[in-house]
Amino acid sequence: MDEITIPKPDDWHLHLRDGAMLEGVLPFTARHFARAIIMPNLVPPVVTAADARAYRDRIMAALPAELDFTPLMTLYLTETTDRADVAAAHASGLATAVKLYPAGATTNSHSGVRDLGKVMPVLEKMAEIGMPLCIHGEVTDAEVDIFDREAVFIETVLDPLRRRLPELRITLEHVTTSDGVNYVGAAEANLAATITTHHLMINRNAILAGGIKPHYYCLPVAKRETHRLALRRAATSGDPRFFLGTDSAPHVDPLKECACGCAGIFTAINTLSCLAHVFEEEAALGTLEAFASRNGPGWYGLPVNNETVTLRKRPSAVEWPDRIETGDGPVTVFDPMTPVHWEVA
Ligand code: NCD
Ligand code: ZN
Repeated sequence: MDEITIPKPDDWHLHLRDGAMLEGVLPFTARHFARAIIMPNLVPPVVTAADARAYRDRIMAALPAELDFTPLMTLYLTETTDRADVAAAHASGLATAVKLYPAGATTNSHSGVRDLGKVMPVLEKMAEIGMPLCIHGEVTDAEVDIFDREAVFIETVLDPLRRRLPELRITLEHVTTSDGVNYVGAAEANLAATITTHHLMINRNAILAGGIKPHYYCLPVAKRETHRLALRRAATSGDPRFFLGTDSAPHVDPLKECACGCAGIFTAINTLSCLAHVFEEEAALGTLEAFASRNGPGWYGLPVNNETVTLRKRPSAVEWPDRIETGDGPVTVFDPMTPVHWEVA
């Protein structure tokens, strides 16, 4: 098979940023994706319905006229979030989900949640109205090894939360471990997971072997190879609970290439090519459609896109720019470290 046509994909976890960066990166996503769940970790974060409406307007204003794209907004959960505001944002169709960042877990997460008890009234309301909670699933305790933070989160935070509030629909974002895949796979209801492009392609050697490579650093950090293989099995399984969330997270190069570099990998440009490569390697091109185009809409109760995208395998490797220029500065593009022959037709 050297050509595959699938319904236009959606990206169920995306960072678009704001201002000049938004203008610089949005066209790449809007070319290949019909919709995306937009992460709210701006500075200051997108907390209220009014914040989300204003941010959505800025995204639509930055969208080139020839592209069709729908941003699906999320609200950043804080310990003072107003549950009536959340419910109204959901009822009006403005907000698709709420995002939970444990405070300090990742980029711009300091306004996140320290004490889950404080947000229980909001979560109870969300369970009642069927509004999904997207979770960055890592503990932040300094004593927990960074490679174990996802597994410990599942055991000590996620599982207790699901027992306490089984009706709450939860998307465990960017799973990176076999622990995450197995936990989601064993759940009876109300749990799904996104998987990024880069976690299907790299393991932690990419960051640490042969010199430190900041452009492969993201959170959750890539784990050892056994985990990458578990993610590949989940993504290619066709299981409706697993779907694409690229977590494309642009930072300008000076903020990546320094003594304390930011977490985030920019994959909006080459995600579809990389995914076709991965699914072909796994002899699973037939399930790419489920992962990239069907399972996400199924989970979020939205129609599958009518438009299609064709991926075509060509003799020579596809080339991307090493970096793109934005009004804020250069952003390095994810290098999958292997030739990729699939192009978007
Ligand atoms: C994201 C960012 O830069 O906003 N970074 C990342 O490494 N994925 C935040 C996040 O999703 O954790
Ligand atoms: Zn993210």
